[in-house]
Amino acid sequence: MLDRPVRIGVIGCGAQGQNHCRVIRELGETEAVVAAFCDLSEERLAKAGQLWPHARAAKDFRKMLEPGDLDLVIVATMPNTHASMCLAAIEAGANVLCEKPFMMNLEEAVQVLGAAAKAGKQVQVGTNMRYMSTSRYLRDLVVSGQVGDPVFCKAWGCHHSPPVWGPHYELAKSGGGVLASTLIHGLDLAIWVGGAPNPVSVSASSRRLFPGKRGSVVSPEITARFDAEDLLTALVRFDNGATYVLEGNWCDEVKDWHRFELVTTRGTLINNTPFSVKMDEEGKVVDRTPELQGREDWNDGWQESIRFQDADVIGRLRQGKAWELQDHRQLLNMQKVVDGCYESARLGREIAV
Ligand SMILES: NC(=O)c1ccc[n+]([C@@H]2O[C@H](COP(=O)([O-])OP(=O)(O)OC[C@H]3O[C@@H](n4cnc5c(N)ncnc54)[C@H](O)[C@@H]3O)[C@@H](O)[C@H]2O)c1
Repeated sequence: MLDRPVRIGVIGCGAQGQNHCRVIRELGETEAVVAAFCDLSEERLAKAGQLWPHARAAKDFRKMLEPGDLDLVIVATMPNTHASMCLAAIEAGANVLCEKPFMMNLEEAVQVLGAAAKAGKQVQVGTNMRYMSTSRYLRDLVVSGQVGDPVFCKAWGCHHSPPVWGPHYELAKSGGGVLASTLIHGLDLAIWVGGAPNPVSVSASSRRLFPGKRGSVVSPEITARFDAEDLLTALVRFDNGATYVLEGNWCDEVKDWHRFELVTTRGTLINNTPFSVKMDEEGKVVDRTPELQGREDWNDGWQESIRFQDADVIGRLRQGKAWELQDHRQLLNMQKVVDGCYESARLGREIAV
């Protein structure tokens, strides 16, 4: 229990760090304060300072982390820095909300989760889509057994053009392109809704279609640094017998969404475009999509899901409750799927994970 606002440090004040700074401000200073933030860029420090003028600002994250001062550190830099920042935050006595993708590889994930367990600190990864109302509704349907067992799923993460607001296209910083940056959202959600089974094997293929596609809409400076995959397809097998087919595409002419279609032994669940629950009832296909009109508590907005996520971890810290969204097994499994997809694509064959 905390009888004071949660004290937060934000590392990285780029696109997503600014989102966190803003949603924490919206929660109100009785709940939480950004007590410190850090970025390499003066401009971004100044922008964060407009939202949190009394917080201490630093360029070096180690100087930002005063031992025992922060309850929570949000790591919102690119993945190549996540491991060292999470470890330093844990060492300084903080719990950690780390942006997705969690780590550059499984070794880093094992090291960070091991350090957290040893220090008795909690780690959550920014899988904010789990906080959307539709996601929770579908997950409850599956885990309560109402729709039978998951058997097959298609999951997409597609955009009409590559995201270039941050260096997500630069492998040394991102650890991966469309899979690690975009598809991971819909994939994590589809696995979680499907009961979080353990992955067994992966067969993946990856390509880069940029700059043959979309080349003219991206600056020459970014084009010169763009070395990540922008198309990734995969088949993942799980220990409950379910198979998942994945498609991530940053140069998609048709799809612009994070979406999944989950087939179970009794029906088919689709999370959006449009949200639908169709069931087999005595041989007939019956539409069981709930009526959502007028429900004030139903919210699938992207920014809102980040606010719900931050409010959840902050609220639990205040009440002395454990974070329950993910466990270490789920975080390691997601890292195994991501690592496995890149390894399988490199080798050109299916691999065990
Ligand atoms: N959950 C979501 O909806 C969502 C949305 C966007 C990005 N993200 C994730 O957030 C992370 C950051 O992405 P972004 O789009 O904000 O990138 P970005 O490039 O806009 O921001 C990253 C910031 O980190 C700073 N930085 C880099 N190295 C640093 C260091 N050593 N010390 C301090 N600051 C440092 C950079 O100067 C930059 O301002 C990524 O992991 C990305 O996948 C999540």
